[in-house]
Amino acid sequence: MSDKIRIGLAGLGTVGATVAARLLQGAVPRAELVAVSARDAKKDRGVDLSTVDFVATPLDLASHDEVDVVVELIGGENGIALELVEAALEKGKPVVTANKAMLAKHAARLSDLSVGGDVPLAFEAAVAGGIPVIKTVREGLAGNDIHRLCGILNGTCNYILSQMAAAGLSFEEALKEAQEKGFAEADPSLDVSGMDAGQKLAILSALAFGVAPDMDNISVTGIEAITAADIAFAAEFDSVIRLVGLAERSGNGVYHSVEPVLVKKAHPLAQVVNELNAVSISAVPLGGVMLQGPGAGGGATASAVLADISDIASGFGRPLFDSTVAAMTESASSNAPAREFYIRLALADQPGSMAKATQILAENGVSIEEVVQRSSEAGDSHLPVVFITHQAESAALETALAALEQQSEICNAVLALPVFAEED
Ligand code: HSE
Repeated sequence: MSDKIRIGLAGLGTVGATVAARLLQGAVPRAELVAVSARDAKKDRGVDLSTVDFVATPLDLASHDEVDVVVELIGGENGIALELVEAALEKGKPVVTANKAMLAKHAARLSDLSVGGDVPLAFEAAVAGGIPVIKTVREGLAGNDIHRLCGILNGTCNYILSQMAAAGLSFEEALKEAQEKGFAEADPSLDVSGMDAGQKLAILSALAFGVAPDMDNISVTGIEAITAADIAFAAEFDSVIRLVGLAERSGNGVYHSVEPVLVKKAHPLAQVVNELNAVSISAVPLGGVMLQGPGAGGGATASAVLADISDIASGFGRPLFDSTVAAMTESASSNAPAREFYIRLALADQPGSMAKATQILAENGVSIEEVVQRSSEAGDSHLPVVFITHQAESAALETALAALEQQSEICNAVLALPVFAEED
């Protein structure tokens, strides 16, 4: 038997083809690629696979006599990816995966399969692409008490928001570019809806706080409603818009959110552009650390997969989590912290509409810090208006927004974004 671990790789997309090429070049000395599966065996992927066994279906990798470790790069929360991972773990074969959707959805089952048999299930590539954040939380911060974790966890959204601001691209143009560059999911609605970032946050929170992954405990808002006007208004407030995931101890639980927020240009997260991701972690006794790097794309994700393969080859593999999901806390807090908000709306260009809007905010205890009103273009019946509020409770803000939306004769296109606090 070879002294190298023998890899069976399922999925030869952007990431899989890079992993295959690097393994064949000997990038991980203690691992060799012996078998692959992909939908189209004949497709030219720029890598010579003539020396490896091209199996008929992904499940063949789990039962393959010469495969010691299965690498799952098919994607999708259910279906063949899940079947393959379950089959491999059941046979005692370690698994490496980049599949955050599957991990977030089936954490309990996969954790049982992995912990029960003590079979490693490695997933560095599932969160923040090439940034070694899983290793950092598990190993680099062992012995710390993490109380807050936040960051930019979706390269596609960050690319879109960056390019809308820097190159004046429309949302659709920027999304198309992100897809062409291989950053987006097969279904890009998972990116722009914030779900992809939510799945990554759920996994990080399980590691950092021991909270069982549960997407129902994460308040998720995507970037679909952000307009070029919002990007321009944000710039007037010396800010940019970023999709930020946050997990923070709050009372007896952990508060989780993924949402677009205004970030001051001087804040480190504002410097994180295009497909870059960043994760900022606050912990005792460490203080704070921020990791930044490419969060999407073939090379970045392949880098994390190769690192996991190297760990397993060196005997460093670990189960999915250090305890079963059943043993984790389910306590998630729904209490959003009080924050300042950016409120954008279109107000009818007629006497009293501004007074009515500010009255509604006042009645709900939402205090205004700044107002910007644009003059109308010829023929416009409504004027764009933005309020920046003082700190407000989310519940008060939501009541005020609902009341504004009811004033449809004077006000429409209402959107509120939290302002990321300077000290965050
Ligand atoms: N589609 C993901 C992103 C990349 O845009 O961040 C893989 O997680």
